[in-house]
Amino acid sequence: MNDVVAIVLAAGKGTRMNSDLAKVLHPLLGRPLLAYPLAACRDAGVGRIVAVVGHQADRVRETLAAPDLTFALQAEQRGTGHAVAVTRDALDDFSGTALILCGDVPLLRPETLAHLADRHRASGDRVTVLSMAPADPTGYGRLVRDADGRLRAIVEERDADDAQRAVGEVNTGTYAVDVPWLWDAVAGLAADNSQGEYYLTDIVAAAAREGRAGSVLLDDPGEVMGVNSRVHLAEASAVLRDRINRAWMEAGVTLEDPASTWIEPGVELEPDVVVGPACRLAGTSRVAAGARIETGCVVTDSEIGPGARLKPYSVVGEARVGPGAQVGPFAHLRPGAVLEDDAKAGNFVEMKKAVLGRGSKASHLTYLGDAAVGPGANIGAGTITCNYDGVNKHATVIGAGAFIGSNTALVAPVTVGAGATVAAGSTITKHIPDSALGVARAKQRNVEGWSEKTAKKGGG
Ligand code: UD1
Ligand code: CA
Repeated sequence: MNDVVAIVLAAGKGTRMNSDLAKVLHPLLGRPLLAYPLAACRDAGVGRIVAVVGHQADRVRETLAAPDLTFALQAEQRGTGHAVAVTRDALDDFSGTALILCGDVPLLRPETLAHLADRHRASGDRVTVLSMAPADPTGYGRLVRDADGRLRAIVEERDADDAQRAVGEVNTGTYAVDVPWLWDAVAGLAADNSQGEYYLTDIVAAAAREGRAGSVLLDDPGEVMGVNSRVHLAEASAVLRDRINRAWMEAGVTLEDPASTWIEPGVELEPDVVVGPACRLAGTSRVAAGARIETGCVVTDSEIGPGARLKPYSVVGEARVGPGAQVGPFAHLRPGAVLEDDAKAGNFVEMKKAVLGRGSKASHLTYLGDAAVGPGANIGAGTITCNYDGVNKHATVIGAGAFIGSNTALVAPVTVGAGATVAAGSTITKHIPDSALGVARAKQRNVEGWSEKTAKKGGG
């Protein structure tokens, strides 16, 4: 589709969002609303896109910048026809088909856009309108036809008479239009309507006067649902979630409770992954075959290896969980946490910039930060790497097969040799050589008969 460009209208404020944030920047499954119609254009093979921005234009530009995307500024929102007119400079060298769509319709499928472009080119019409026949046409522009069924015009509801209002076929706000014909058509628009706006829809009447206006009926009106409020945003999210979940299930992923599973569009899952209820898989996360992600986990920008298991309520962000490794329940893997093959970060374990070597275990209540743990080590319950001195972060290195007793504080920078043992309750501040025992705690002293003595004094 090298001869097809897209114009995406996104200058509006979105008053009904009641928000400081421009409507098209509100996130929908982790991406701004406007990213969806742009992605649909790209997936349909459109080579070049112009987005019309106005409200919070700079922020929209920054957020969505891409090599195939240019922005046209519509400083004042004077109607959809005016919005299209401001793209002329950006497309001055172009002739072919322009798809025109709205920035707030996230569910439009690329197949629909490609079909609309194909039908337009085959028809020889100047304009092809994507129409629909929703259960309730209220609020939409009506497709008005002559006695022979030929499309004559689109009439906005507030400008329509009773007969026109009774028409069930309406404008989705999506079009395929010939360029450069479009430029003359929008230049010829007048704002002589109830809103005093330049209506893009009036180009249909202009094309009809040449006998070259057509339409394509969209089967599923849900696809062009526009997001105008937070209620719509939630509804669109649910539709998108179901679409994504269905595709993953068809690709061999088990979702135990798809209604509560949120998988963002950039995530990739291999077959035989199992995802439990109430999980969120976000960003660019990759989950390999046979991995299990159990109830309530949140996985963001992370890599989960084959056969790995995330037990319930684990939070994993910018981390890597190796093949067969186990995490949680209630573990927190922060950026730079790495579990090598078959390693384990168990109950209430937190890791940040820390590697747990192959088969190593930190099973309970541990913090590993800026740490490298070799293979086959055991990190006892309550072990803490004291990585921060209030100014700088320091590293802890623990050798292969080391055994760190429970409730150990490792005051970084510090190293524990391969096969070394740390006595429980130690505060380790110095290097422990390979195979040595490090003990750093007060000696125990017993006072015989303590209870009787204190009882005689009347103590308790
Ligand atoms: C428009 C159509 C209507 C159609 C409906 C489908 C017109 C006159 N009417 O009406 O026939 O049934 O869409 O949803 O086009 N925008 C700008 N700049 C402007 C005005 C609008 O960028 O000056 C953008 C908005 O941000 C929005 C889109 O264009 O993304 C549509 O504008 P909106 O005002 O919602 O159009 P409707 O009144 O719904
Ligand atoms: Ca309007």
